[in-house]
Amino acid sequence: MPTTFPPGFVWGAATAAYQVEGAVHEDGRTPSIWDTFSHTPGKVLNGDTGDTATDHYHRYAEDVRLMAALGLGAYRFSVSWPRVQPTGSGPASPKGLDFYRRLVDELLAHGIKPVLTLYHWDLPQELETAGGWPARETAYRFADYAGLVARALGDRVECWATLNEPWCSAFLGYASGVHAPGRTDDAAALRAAHHLNLAHGLGAQALRAALPRRARVAVVLNPNAVRARTTSPADLDAQRRIDALSTRIFTGPMLHGAYPADLIDDTAGITDWSFVRDGDTSVIKHPLDWLGINYYTPSVVSAATDNRPSPAPSPYPGAQGVAFHQPPGPRTAMDWTVDPSGLYDLLMRFTREAPGLPLAVSENGAAYDDKPDGRGAVHDPDRIAYLRGHFDAVLRALGDGADVWGYFVWSLLDNFEWAYGYSKRFGIVYVDYATLSRTVKGSGEWYRGVIRSGRVG
Ligand code: BGC
Ligand code: BGC
Ligand code: BGC
Repeated sequence: MPTTFPPGFVWGAATAAYQVEGAVHEDGRTPSIWDTFSHTPGKVLNGDTGDTATDHYHRYAEDVRLMAALGLGAYRFSVSWPRVQPTGSGPASPKGLDFYRRLVDELLAHGIKPVLTLYHWDLPQELETAGGWPARETAYRFADYAGLVARALGDRVECWATLNEPWCSAFLGYASGVHAPGRTDDAAALRAAHHLNLAHGLGAQALRAALPRRARVAVVLNPNAVRARTTSPADLDAQRRIDALSTRIFTGPMLHGAYPADLIDDTAGITDWSFVRDGDTSVIKHPLDWLGINYYTPSVVSAATDNRPSPAPSPYPGAQGVAFHQPPGPRTAMDWTVDPSGLYDLLMRFTREAPGLPLAVSENGAAYDDKPDGRGAVHDPDRIAYLRGHFDAVLRALGDGADVWGYFVWSLLDNFEWAYGYSKRFGIVYVDYATLSRTVKGSGEWYRGVIRSGRVG
């Protein structure tokens, strides 16, 4: 296994618009489904909302200076759809686009490569009211939006991703309902998954039409590193089902041009999939320039020993009879098990499954209960240990032939952690939410050293 990262390996950090920007009413922005959801009592812990978040909308220049001080080579951010195309259709908002022009110019001025994600979960509320992702029309709206952003920023952004983690949008949004828009309708969630796939394909086409040839277009997925608890046929079948419902439902059409037959069978009691029209899967199989993999923790499943329905709606429609188990090992503040081998496994899986497709670790990181000490310093040795383990996993995959061009820590800043509000801190930079001041944590200092040396010390 190599001990240093290859020259040219890109070290970055990631954020998402609704989690950091705030300024939700400024410059013509209209509400997204996350504004509606976070303002609905009971949906987000402590009633937290993204109204102010980390105020990145106003403090972006300070944040870019922080990135430069950390030595970051790239910054992965997302564009807020309702900020640049209020209500989700019609003309662009020049003021909304100007924010991203200023941000990108600031990044470029500091030698930091912008990596732009078009959709990180903040659907314009008007589009949800018109049917949301279960409605086919939303995919066409997304393609228009993609073209509009590409025409505005294509002269200065080379690296693009259509969607972030469509699994979360479809299944946390429409099946378990723990994310916006909070619907619990299994058939709607499967339709949503297809329309997100279609949005990706149509969006990628729109990007190609508007962007220079050198642009690199991707999608960012959170493939599930799912393991069977034993090698019994029943447990292996549970693994197969969850793999289909979390990963192959996207990679099937995106990489291979078809939905997996076992997925269609497993969900036959919920839908006949007639919403998939002729030609859709060839649109979805748009050739990618890279694939983003987000990874936090693996899953362990078995066949359920009883068939009691689970008390809460599941994010896996059609997976009755599958039991989830906490994998062994230390856990983060999210209660997610720390297990870097899942990242290695995913990188090797896509190296085999999509030969020649460059990969990036587009998110990886951990939440811990960070607190400043008496002098205001934030020591987070657990996060350093987490990152070190995952960097080693990337090195091991590189040594075994994976083509990984970069790594993006989640997250640059502590931020609005969706249904957990501000209670979970993922940043390598601490945010004091009373003053919005930023303090680089111990992990940020450590990351700076890794970036400088290319070595996991
Ligand atoms: C995924 C994360 C996702 C989370 C949502 C995890 O299983 O790995 O990417 O954000 O679920 O609850
Ligand atoms: C958890 C994952 C888990 C998934 C399925 C997510 O909320 O974060 O670790 O695999 O749910 O239960
Ligand atoms: C999402 C981020 C989120 C992180 C931690 C990823 O699934 O893309 O927005 O904050 O996981 O849950």
